[in-house]
Amino acid sequence: MSTHDSNSPSGRPEDSWHRKLLEGRAGLFAVVTTVGISIGGIAEIVPMYTIAAGPEVLEDVKPYTPLEVAGRDIYSREGCVQCHSQMIRPFRAETLRYGTWSRAGEYAFDRPFLLGSRRIGPDLHRVGGKYPNAWHFEHMRDPRATSPGSIMPPYSWLHEDSYTKADVQASITALSTLGVPYSAADQADVGPSIDKQAGEIVADLAKAGIQTQPDKEIVALIAYLQRLGTDGKAALAAREAGGGTAPADTAPTTPVAPAPVEAAAAAPVTLADAAPAAQ
Ligand code: HEC
Repeated sequence: MSTHDSNSPSGRPEDSWHRKLLEGRAGLFAVVTTVGISIGGIAEIVPMYTIAAGPEVLEDVKPYTPLEVAGRDIYSREGCVQCHSQMIRPFRAETLRYGTWSRAGEYAFDRPFLLGSRRIGPDLHRVGGKYPNAWHFEHMRDPRATSPGSIMPPYSWLHEDSYTKADVQASITALSTLGVPYSAADQADVGPSIDKQAGEIVADLAKAGIQTQPDKEIVALIAYLQRLGTDGKAALAAREAGGGTAPADTAPTTPVAPAPVEAAAAAPVTLADAAPAAQ
């Protein structure tokens, strides 16, 4: 063990300048260390208390309905997040393809969030309203029936298996425990709310010649997919119409029409649509 210390004239560590200035003075050293650590702590902790509900609150973004919660649970269970992101970045190529970019306030009720980190398939954050219910029904049964050449796996069991209202009720209770604002009335209304929304989807599918029952998992998944991104889109449109401060999708001189999303809804999906994400 060497006692040599190049910082001390005598070569003994206890004579070095940093020992004399700081390390040898326990009281001063404790104070300085506390101040040093506090700076980092303050920078981390203060924003937690000054920002109430995240960086931005969008009034029109509402919690998912019970049927949509059931669909969301299925989406999580099936691992759709492994191939699909739910976050449109503020780049022109993305806003042209998927629609207006995702804002933080849109995720207020996503617990757990399903942002995803891979895009083997396209982003789904604004897929709500893009296709008819019947399209989703067929696509989930056999993706290649609607999207030739698709590498998405089929999920045909969703058309056979049923969700249970008891499970949905449990999810709603869990979410409200975590702070999602479901009122007592909402919680008591889970069954009737499911019956109403699922009934509408089944009736709409029947118009396209598809027979199914309201308790099938595919019905819940369709409800969830059709909701995705719609609240945020409406909230941002309202804000812009009201002369608010929502940032434009791109530079103000090059306005991006929301048309591509709607246009895609009308046009049949081609391999060209799927190809860029499927590479
Ligand atoms: C192995 C990767 C993979 C998985 C897992 C996967 N998908 Fe896909 N998905 C794709 C690909 C690739 C496409 C593009 C081709 C197509 O339309 O089928 C796609 C397309 C879609 C589309 C149409 C999007 C659009 O804008 O055209 C929807 C909706 C969708 N997937 C939903 C789901 C759901 C729900 C699940 C989970 C039950 C799921 N996907 C699981 C790969 C995947």
